[in-house]
Amino acid sequence: MRKGRNHKLIREHELCLVTGNGNKELAEKIAKCINVKLGVVNVTKFSDGETRVDIEESMRGKDVFIIQPVCYPVNDNLMELLIMTDALMRASARTIAAVIPYYGYARQDKKVKPREPITAKLIANLLETAGIDRVLAMDLHAASIQGFFNIPVDHLSSIPTVVNYFKRRGIGGDNTVIVSPDVGGVVRARSIANRMGSYLAIISKRRTKPNEADIQEIIGSVEGYKCVMVDDIIDTASTLVKGAEALKEHGAREIIAYSTHPVLSGDSVQRIEDSVLKEVIVTDTIPIPAAKRNKKIKVISVAGVFGEAILRGFEQRSISELFH
Ligand code: R5P
Repeated sequence: MRKGRNHKLIREHELCLVTGNGNKELAEKIAKCINVKLGVVNVTKFSDGETRVDIEESMRGKDVFIIQPVCYPVNDNLMELLIMTDALMRASARTIAAVIPYYGYARQDKKVKPREPITAKLIANLLETAGIDRVLAMDLHAASIQGFFNIPVDHLSSIPTVVNYFKRRGIGGDNTVIVSPDVGGVVRARSIANRMGSYLAIISKRRTKPNEADIQEIIGSVEGYKCVMVDDIIDTASTLVKGAEALKEHGAREIIAYSTHPVLSGDSVQRIEDSVLKEVIVTDTIPIPAAKRNKKIKVISVAGVFGEAILRGFEQRSISELFH
């Protein structure tokens, strides 16, 4: 690059947000938070089900952020993300960042028995091959997934958002126990407990088969306390519902739950409705269809966190400062 031209190019860097069909509502909220218009991209399907992407404005030289969670329909949303990336790369975008509010396929992140795949790594490979330069994700199932990428990953946290929410509602303090529903979630639960001045308890969970949780024991005292169970994903809701039953049996006074990603598959919503859980707080990383909305499920928005992280990434400012 010749001197002089470089300066001109830097001046012309432009931030662009685009989205597929994964979570348009969140993408619109993020765009509003940072006062940027969403780029015009049409993501439709050929009649045989193949994904088709039309980018209807120039992307040449832009720093593009694609907002797309890998949520239901998981494979379609993943293919949309990959194909949008390919289109942007061929359209000469300067950089392409994948903003993945919910990183699907993350639960298969290691081989626990022979002949299992590691899909969390496979997805990382696919994204890099397609042309992604960096990733912004929230509350990854395991923080070690960052290492599956050979490009920068900004791992955003929903913890400050939910802790502020709890504080506004007067939840927390020394009459409350934050409960991790499994050993894998202890770091997350401890961080929330510390910020809320509350105690920590851990449920020891065993899986007999995928999507079925079996409670073994509770480590820590919950008798007479308000319990807040904290998990990254609610899929079938079996972990939270069975955990809540166990807490009740051990004398918990009231049980609520917080989970970042409301996957809410199958009859999970009914299961929550019928459970001893008083309420379940989730974020908007995944859209909840009207048919699955329920009085017990409350949604808090993380659009502001994503908006601020996108701006800071674009302006080359620290993102970690956001979470201190
Ligand atoms: C598992 O390790 C995850 O952190 C969640 O606990 C799990 O995905 C929840 O699944 P389900 O709602 O089906 O019990």
